[in-house]
Amino acid sequence: MRGKGLIVTIDGPAGSGKSSVAKRLASEIGFSFLDTGAMYRCVTLACLRKEMDLGQLQQVANIASQVQIEFFADKVVLDGEDVSEAIRTPTVTKSIWAIADNTAVRESMVAAQRRWTAGRDAVTEGRDQGTIAFPDAECKIFLTATPEERARRRVSQLLELGVDISYEEVLEMQNQRDRQDTQRESGGLKPATDSIMVWTDGMTGDEVLQRLVTIVGSKRTPEMNSMTEQPLQHKPHLMPR
Ligand code: DC
Repeated sequence: MRGKGLIVTIDGPAGSGKSSVAKRLASEIGFSFLDTGAMYRCVTLACLRKEMDLGQLQQVANIASQVQIEFFADKVVLDGEDVSEAIRTPTVTKSIWAIADNTAVRESMVAAQRRWTAGRDAVTEGRDQGTIAFPDAECKIFLTATPEERARRRVSQLLELGVDISYEEVLEMQNQRDRQDTQRESGGLKPATDSIMVWTDGMTGDEVLQRLVTIVGSKRTPEMNSMTEQPLQHKPHLMPR
């Protein structure tokens, strides 16, 4: 299915803090990092910019197979443009379910994820990484926290960004995303049967990172040890089409 790359998958619901900790884990163990949510965000942004009807499944799927998404250490580039901020606006977040529910889009995203990781050691983060994209991954983690804890964290993050929003509003939006993510017909959020579940309630980011490093360490094969002794290379990660 793929080359010699060793894969660590991290799945979990919105607000579980998995993006930042997955990125830190990748850096800590010397693996590349793939943020698969950013891929769905890029396709959503591309479709919104073209003012497409997101219900036109085939047209949307065509966009998904045409766009070029590149990952650099500190930015996401869509068709040559740095879209790191543009893909995280509420407009994109609100429309993304239509893209993530599109089975043909999911197929092309999963194919691109497998091409991107071929021959590369990678930490991949998303909703379906351990179940659909990399069922044979060496290490699978499901990172989660109670809805209340996730909403509390989100409110403080937003406050730091100067966004004043009530806890109740955040919790309601998050519950809605959880429903969309878990009820999705293909690629719905669920732990792989062989994943390790990590509840992060009451843990700091550093503590979660340490826990993940320990889990990966416990799963290490001799092959994994020799690979991770190599220094981390900061090459741009080009996603092949
Ligand atoms: O992790 P995130 O919030 O950036 O993800 C954005 C959306 O993309 C999220 O609502 C679910 C979807 N997604 C998905 O369906 N499958 C993935 N592997 C990653 C994200």
